[in-house]
Amino acid sequence: MAERIVRTKNIGLRGIAVADTKISYIDGERGVLIYRGYRIEDLAANSTFPETAFLLLYETLPTVEQLAGFEKDLRAARHLPAFLVETMRQWPKTAHPMDALQAAVPLLAMDDPDLLDESRQANLRKAVRLVARLPAVVAAWHRIRQGLDVLPADDTLTHAANFLWQTFGIVPDAETARVMDICLILHADHTFNASTFACREVVSTRAHMYAGVAAGVGALSGELHGGANARVMEMLQRIVADGITDIPGWVRHQLDRKERIMGMGHAVYKTMDPRAKILKQLAFQLGEKIGQRLWPELTHAVEEAALAELSARGKTEIQPNVDFYSASVYHILGFPGDLMTCIFAASRIAGWCAHIIEEKFGDAQGKPALYRPQAEYVGDYCGKLDCEYVPPEKRRDVAASA
Ligand SMILES: CC(C)(COP(=O)(O)OP(=O)(O)OC[C@H]1O[C@@H](n2cnc3c(N)ncnc32)[C@H](O)[C@@H]1OP(=O)(O)O)[C@@H](O)C(=O)NCCC(=O)NCCS
Repeated sequence: MAERIVRTKNIGLRGIAVADTKISYIDGERGVLIYRGYRIEDLAANSTFPETAFLLLYETLPTVEQLAGFEKDLRAARHLPAFLVETMRQWPKTAHPMDALQAAVPLLAMDDPDLLDESRQANLRKAVRLVARLPAVVAAWHRIRQGLDVLPADDTLTHAANFLWQTFGIVPDAETARVMDICLILHADHTFNASTFACREVVSTRAHMYAGVAAGVGALSGELHGGANARVMEMLQRIVADGITDIPGWVRHQLDRKERIMGMGHAVYKTMDPRAKILKQLAFQLGEKIGQRLWPELTHAVEEAALAELSARGKTEIQPNVDFYSASVYHILGFPGDLMTCIFAASRIAGWCAHIIEEKFGDAQGKPALYRPQAEYVGDYCGKLDCEYVPPEKRRDVAASA
């Protein structure tokens, strides 16, 4: 069967189309991102996160009545089950928020009355609960780990404003809430990124939506994916703490040591990520408003220096991605670094659920199929394929005798 293997190993399936999708589209050369036919710039300027989540889940922008109904459903689902909050109080306060979030997902599954109903309508109801509850979990864990009370959702607030309220206990002004809202729109979907693929791969086994989402949270936590925003903030804070003023010199030194500039480069974009352009503007807008221009200005200085240095090294394709300026935005909003990837998850949940539904119902590609790639076996343990089983008392300690 070896001739059937298409060799894509060590390149992480780059350039391999593993499915069709109608949910989003990226043109990495031109820096274009489209959700269900709408440009990201258009959605960021005119839409809201609930409206964008509706678009991703229901394939069309909602009417006024549909949006009101969807927002009502989101509000109704925001409240966390008491047993979940009680359980979270037992967790080590040092737990990383992404681990807490991933651990909470199966507990949310246990509370879902539709869990084992695999109809499309039931999956859409599950999606609404997940979109509503993931931010509430993030906020609750942040407060529990600080020894603070978990705040109830405020049903008078928008989705984004409520997230800020439940996290910090301060009702944000309209401009700040809108910045949060736009950030949620920008992160809501991104075709077959690693976490979305993880979600789809898990539900291709006919596992339920929550099992897929738990896998997605795990995949997102890595620093080459969603974890990069936290690493960008660490990078900026280290530059400040070390009193570095020669940013081009610092960038050169990093690249000479084969270190990566976090928040730059992308598996698909070969030009500036369109979301990064919007986030850059938001970072400066918010920095100006709150009196914290340092972070966007420092990010901009690193960007300029890195682009020049990478270009001199023939790597013009490594440009700012979504995490580069979102780190400054989230920092100015008050989020600690280790919560930044959770914000990504609280937004991407909309895209994950849309992809899970597409995968389950074969919306874009006909009959759903179980993902089952191949690997080439390269084990060599005894000079032949099948080794003879040796009883424990007759075995040699191979490591010690090596
Ligand atoms: C996102 C990322 C994994 C995509 O990379 P990729 O397309 O798979 O490319 P590779 O990891 O194979 O890197 C290709 C080359 O570019 C370099 N490169 C990639 N990103 C770089 C960065 N941010 N800074 C410096 N060099 C970088 C690599 O070192 C490698 O150089 P080499 O060929 O001399 O060894 C990569 O750009 C990266 O690690 N970025 C930083 C982390 C980040 O911001 N992740 C969030 C993505 S949204």
